[in-house]
Amino acid sequence: MMPTEARSDVRDLRIVPMRRRHLRGVIRIENVVYSQPWSPALYLSELRLPSSRAYFLARVGRSTAGYGGLMFVLDEAHVTTLAVDPRWQRKHIGTQLLVAMAREAIGRGSTGLTLEVRESNRPAHDLYRKFGFEVAGRRKGYYPDTNEDALVMWAYGIDDPSYATLLNGIEESLPRSRKGVRELPGETS
Ligand SMILES: CC(C)(COP(=O)(O)OP(=O)(O)OC[C@H]1O[C@@H](n2cnc3c(N)ncnc32)[C@H](O)[C@@H]1OP(=O)(O)O)[C@@H](O)C(=O)NCCC(=O)NCCS
Repeated sequence: MMPTEARSDVRDLRIVPMRRRHLRGVIRIENVVYSQPWSPALYLSELRLPSSRAYFLARVGRSTAGYGGLMFVLDEAHVTTLAVDPRWQRKHIGTQLLVAMAREAIGRGSTGLTLEVRESNRPAHDLYRKFGFEVAGRRKGYYPDTNEDALVMWAYGIDDPSYATLLNGIEESLPRSRKGVRELPGETS
């Protein structure tokens, strides 16, 4: 029988709030894309803090294709993770997750988005630059597995109407102008 993934189409993408029941699919991707994967217990503890965290899942049909998370500190939103299953990469799923995350941050009153990224992770740098992130600092030896530096990136002024325009432009430029369907927290998935 054909695997579910092969029958799924990225046009069926939905961005939904991450739930405990999604963690099996999240951890499967986590273990593939990260050399220091988060444990299920760590994700569970994050999901127990909805007032200061927001985690999203990208689903294609019944498959988990990616996920991303935010931590809110004062008026800053920190991207804690963003990952797409390698089988689904380069299909703008990371882009659609980040659009949803940026809108969540704006909705919660954040004025800036920030993250750390490995210096060598050019694909991620390119993605973040499209969202207005710029390198603002460096953390020496931040990643203990390779002693690699982290670049600290910031997108400032996300509460400005021009940032909403940027997000709309990113969404409109997606192939076939497909906008990710986003369910609101509280809806089931
Ligand atoms: C970074 C990551 C989330 C991107 O997800 P994705 O769904 O493949 O990204 P998208 O298809 O939305 O790509 C958006 C843009 O990012 C850049 N990009 C993404 N992957 C790229 C790659 N492999 N090579 C070069 N550029 C890349 C491109 O500019 C791309 O736009 P384009 O396809 O129109 O050229 C994904 O590669 C991933 O999960 N990597 C492993 C985990 C990781 O590094 N996460 C980031 C931690 S800070």
